[in-house]
Amino acid sequence: MSDYQSFECDVLVIGAGGAGLRAAIEASAGGVRVICLSKSLLGKAHTVMAEGGVAAAMANVDERDSWKVHFADTMRGGQYVNNPRMAELHARESPARVLELEKWGALFDRTKDGRILQRNFGGHAYPRLAHVGDRTGLEMIRTLQDHGVHQGIDFHMETTVVTLLKDGERVCGALAYDRDRGYFKLYRANAVVLATGGIGRSFQVTSNSWEGTGDGHALAYHAGADLLDMEFVQFHPTGMVWPPSVRGILVTEGVRGEGGVLRNNQGRRFMFDDIPELYRNQTADNEEEGWRYTQGDKSARRPPELLTRDHVARCINREVKAGRGSPHGGVYLDIAWIKQKLPNAAEHIRKKLPSMYHQFKHLADLDITKEPMEVGPTTHYMMGGVRVDADTQMSSVPGLFAAGEVAAGLHGANRLGGNSLSDLIVFGKRAGEYAARFAREHGAAKLDAAKVDAAAKAALAPFERGPAHNPFTLQHELQEMMQRLVGIVRQQEEMEQAIEELQHMKRRVQQVGCAGHRQYNPAWHTCLDLEHMLTVSEAIARAAAERKESRGAHFREDYPEKSKEWGRYNLVVRKAADGSMAVERVPVIEPSAELKQVIEENR
Ligand code: FUM
Repeated sequence: MSDYQSFECDVLVIGAGGAGLRAAIEASAGGVRVICLSKSLLGKAHTVMAEGGVAAAMANVDERDSWKVHFADTMRGGQYVNNPRMAELHARESPARVLELEKWGALFDRTKDGRILQRNFGGHAYPRLAHVGDRTGLEMIRTLQDHGVHQGIDFHMETTVVTLLKDGERVCGALAYDRDRGYFKLYRANAVVLATGGIGRSFQVTSNSWEGTGDGHALAYHAGADLLDMEFVQFHPTGMVWPPSVRGILVTEGVRGEGGVLRNNQGRRFMFDDIPELYRNQTADNEEEGWRYTQGDKSARRPPELLTRDHVARCINREVKAGRGSPHGGVYLDIAWIKQKLPNAAEHIRKKLPSMYHQFKHLADLDITKEPMEVGPTTHYMMGGVRVDADTQMSSVPGLFAAGEVAAGLHGANRLGGNSLSDLIVFGKRAGEYAARFAREHGAAKLDAAKVDAAAKAALAPFERGPAHNPFTLQHELQEMMQRLVGIVRQQEEMEQAIEELQHMKRRVQQVGCAGHRQYNPAWHTCLDLEHMLTVSEAIARAAAERKESRGAHFREDYPEKSKEWGRYNLVVRKAADGSMAVERVPVIEPSAELKQVIEENR
């Protein structure tokens, strides 16, 4: 073990985005020793890509809002395969978590009478998203980071975990490497919280940065944890499509929340063409009513651009396929049109959407106060992840917890915008609290030196194989294949083809290698990331091929309808005894009688 730099703590938090930071803060407040790892630099996390706001039923803008309406909206958005207890806890606790952030220094936009301002977002019945312009995730990260650093949490940056370590059934630490210097770091811990975010890099077009390679999903799977809902991948309707170098970068839903509309190349607001039954009575059927809604008219219904993300993304896809798209394969998102309604429109847009203004000005040479943007779907978020207990966030592996995007259950088949940020702080806090409790109650576990050495040897294998087979080529092929065969619109034959190609890629990943030394070596890092990406991609493809219906973000051309029968099941993916990947149906968790009533009252 002397070959490793060794560390000991009670709770090891893997990931330093919103969920990881919040978990670390809570565990540390519980009086235990905490180390928090960041794959990247502190402050750089996918949390910042939730720009438009954090959903919490504070009822500052519309007094009709309550945790009950938020709960019912989340269940409807998730098409009723969510974990209802998680949806309940989330709706009940998010207002307190937002106020706590404010107490810790987050500067939210304000209503005229000085309360936290809330804006409209898709699928939310009332203006519910507390926001800081279009930089909400960034402000949250800044606040949590400041708070955590001042609390004395030990942060290890540029540290990537290669495997979780176990003592019998229980998790007892992790082996990681320092990205910069290349040496191994060995962590002994009494409890581990996974907060590693998402999997977007398995697809070609994504809002995720390079870190989003599904590490936590794969680590948990190989440690024996159940993965849930892996077929549900969220394609955010609006990412940049032009120029090619920025394709996939997020264009916040906040644009539509502020009155932005979607048009095809004929200038038609195509979102009026197809309003799902589930939302018909909540959706405006004319432009004027939609505009009045965005201006706070409580008697108006929401514009169709604020339908749920799965639906909006599919409508955009349909327009592009039918030849009604923009020159670079998207559609038009127009916020500039509000100058017909507001005298100070340009100033208003720059104030409410400062990042979008600068993003398009600098990256696409386009002034969004004057011209429409070109946008198209981008892989943004993973609803599926580690199956956890709703209250404690512990997985099926003792001592292993998960929170945020890497955990599953809250969002069901489709997440509502803004529910990610509230998810991070509600369940990050819970994971930290219960991980600290587990660590206190269970004490030190033992590391097995032979297993550590074997894991380190496997991680160094790419150097022995040398550079003949390039990891970047395989990564590129994987992303292209997942986009083409397991993307927004799916069908059986294509997914089976994907599963077959993945078997071939799994053999190829054993051949890819790198040259040079261990100091900052991106080819080596990619060889290791690829293992995670392939595990996650296979789980997505297998679960998607199994679910023979369309629900939420999972749309199948060969089974375009939602099925009552499939609505009774979630899918669990786990590692079978022979090492193969097994998919199993499990019954959805029924809401309690009280929650059933809440759903009925808010239909
Ligand atoms: O569109 C957005 O600002 C993204 C928010 C989210 O994913 O929650």
